[in-house]
Amino acid sequence: MLSNIPKNQDKLLNVDSVRKDELFDLIVTNFPVGLIILDRDEKILEFNPAAEEITGFKKQEIYGKSCHAVLIGIPCHLSELKESASADEILVHTEGTIRHKDGHEIPVRYTASPLVKDNKLKGAIAIFRDVTKEKQLEQHRRVLISMFAHDLKGPLAVAGGFLMRLRQGKAGPLNKKQLQYVDTVLKEVGRVEKYIRSFLDIVRMEAGQITLSREFCDLSRLFSDLLDSIKLKAGQKNIKIEVEIPEDISPAYVDKTQFSRVIQNLLDNAIKYSPENSVVRIKCTESDKNILIAVEDSGPGIEEEDLPYIFDPFYRANYSGDVEGCGIGLAIVKTIVEAHGGKVWVRNKRPPERGAIFSFSIPKFQESRKQPNILKA
Ligand SMILES: Nc1ncnc2c1ncn2[C@@H]1O[C@H](COP(=O)(O)OP(=O)(O)OP(=O)(O)O)[C@@H](O)[C@H]1O
Ligand SMILES: [Mg+2]
Repeated sequence: MLSNIPKNQDKLLNVDSVRKDELFDLIVTNFPVGLIILDRDEKILEFNPAAEEITGFKKQEIYGKSCHAVLIGIPCHLSELKESASADEILVHTEGTIRHKDGHEIPVRYTASPLVKDNKLKGAIAIFRDVTKEKQLEQHRRVLISMFAHDLKGPLAVAGGFLMRLRQGKAGPLNKKQLQYVDTVLKEVGRVEKYIRSFLDIVRMEAGQITLSREFCDLSRLFSDLLDSIKLKAGQKNIKIEVEIPEDISPAYVDKTQFSRVIQNLLDNAIKYSPENSVVRIKCTESDKNILIAVEDSGPGIEEEDLPYIFDPFYRANYSGDVEGCGIGLAIVKTIVEAHGGKVWVRNKRPPERGAIFSFSIPKFQESRKQPNILKA
């Protein structure tokens, strides 16, 4: 009953008399996920009870301290947010681990944004959630599915082999219609095999079983090669692909094959989800430490509720029902980018514009030498 609410809170419920600082305190204290506010030197200004619960630190003991000295691993670096901000991003969604006060690692999903006023960076705000349980479930699900996928490969190979023999007339000649049917089934078997291979690749990458073979790579040349192979798909929807690369951009130090898979998957999505006659834009820029690549489209963008899951294997948003796919492309993108020591994130264009912007950063040569050379999530 309203009359039972203590006087000071009663005031807060009144729009005319609510004070901004009281409202701020009320929101921060009751915010259902961890919230941290940093000043421009990455020192902790605000740390709410949910953040205390997740990390084991009390606000009083870490207030004013350098965020990265206390919260080891928190993926909230102002320098990166600055880069994102200059690449016209406001929100960064990603995953990482924070070291709990007692030393154990906690997987977190977090969203961060720079705090900007008059075009000046004032600090950053981040919200984060402990995703330990989700990760355990995910891991369990992955082990089961990978065993299942592995076991499917055998029967599929046998089915494909017999279909090929039928196709070659080894069980007698086939008429035109029969050939057409066999070709369709062969194509579908091939598709399933491709999905199984991709999924098992992710599992192997995550287990650190694939080694990156990095080399210096000219981005302009790489994109022109890639575009040649994707032009056909884009052409079917009359989609134009524009690439913006500064002439003097530093070479990327990457595993060319894996890096190409990242671009191919992002472009494949951009084309799939964009309307006909639209433009897909690729922008490459660089900062001191990173090469940044953004792929912009004019499709439906990503619903807020899908954002945290979009990079999970087999996750597909509701609206993708009619579009062909099995939800594995972005999981491959994330695994490969992170294996290079980079980050990937997504945001929607600001209205009235429509579309998604998928961006990723890859450390340049000097930075990448600090990373292990193994594909491991
Ligand atoms: N550019 C985009 N615009 C809108 N939604 C997208 C875009 N890219 C991805 N998505 C959403 O994210 C989901 C996951 O993408 P992902 O690339 O992992 O899978 P997919 O494209 O559905 O299938 P696959 O890549 O395995 O063939 C998609 O199903 C779609 O819902
Ligand atoms: Mg895809």
